[in-house]
Amino acid sequence: MQSFTGEHILSVNQFNHDSIQKIFSVANQMQPYALRQKRTKVLDGAILGNLFFEASTRTRVSFGTAFNLLGGEVRETTGMESSALAKGESLFDTARVLSGYSDVVAMRHPDNGSVAEFAVGSRVPVINGGDGSNEHPTQALLDLYTIEKERNYHGESIDGLHIAMIGDLKHGRTVHSLSKLLCLFKNIRFTLISPKELAMPDSIIDTIENAGHQVVISDTLEGSLDADICYQTRIQEERFPSKDEANKYRGKFRLNQQVYTKHFQSNTVIMHPLPRDSRADANELDNDLNLNPNLAIFRQTDNGVLVRMALFALTLGVENIVSKYDTDVHWYSNKK
Ligand code: NCD
Repeated sequence: MQSFTGEHILSVNQFNHDSIQKIFSVANQMQPYALRQKRTKVLDGAILGNLFFEASTRTRVSFGTAFNLLGGEVRETTGMESSALAKGESLFDTARVLSGYSDVVAMRHPDNGSVAEFAVGSRVPVINGGDGSNEHPTQALLDLYTIEKERNYHGESIDGLHIAMIGDLKHGRTVHSLSKLLCLFKNIRFTLISPKELAMPDSIIDTIENAGHQVVISDTLEGSLDADICYQTRIQEERFPSKDEANKYRGKFRLNQQVYTKHFQSNTVIMHPLPRDSRADANELDNDLNLNPNLAIFRQTDNGVLVRMALFALTLGVENIVSKYDTDVHWYSNKK
């Protein structure tokens, strides 16, 4: 079994089947804390350096929330312009300094490979919260955790899954990491739908095919797909040379109730890493799906806290003593 204590989490390539099951079993144990039925102080005194050099809402806040829920404190830096990186400081130096102030670091940065570069200079474990269009391992884990829960609900496992991924598959780091993670399972079918210019990188298609899974590539959403999961994505506007370039693809693959009914099964689960671009000319996931019980997007965001709590507990080696530091919840709480 892979040991997590003191290790960086930089890429999904570092996981195997057993390590994923370990993360998921620790995540399951976090549910009463996330639901505020219990509190734990297991990380009392520990500090998370939450360094977000690129826009983020849920990843940044859920990392912080997960750490707080384990009893730890969070020191946050947001935006490149408010850090010394804007003065030309290297990632190595920033890492040497900030790792002296923290017990663990979560980091997002616009450049591919930047979080791994930072980790070289860090004296504490570093967790990748997204590096450019490269990887987003914690999102992939929470997506997989969600897929497993949704499949279990229908009495099925991840093996044999048919997933349709739609949108900007070239720049979307979440679909890159999730595809690689799914390769660890059996008989996965991938239907990859994107404009030709925004296709899934060849290196990932090779990984999928070399692991013996099936891939169908298309630039149109047509016919009836027997997909178990429809994983929709946003055009990653910030990775294009200009807004006009990105605008060419905005609104190309919209999913609303009518499109869903036409192309998917009545129980196809709808996922999206969020944010969904709700501006009228994009609107890749329409609000008219909000009451569809198969829309799992907010189950994904809730699961993100559990998975990130599990990763902190494992990385800091407290996964077996969390409940030893339990205390009561004194305030009104009605979370579900
Ligand atoms: C994604 C990201 O930042 O890669 N969002 C997220 O972390 N939940 C996807 C996106 O921004 O479209």
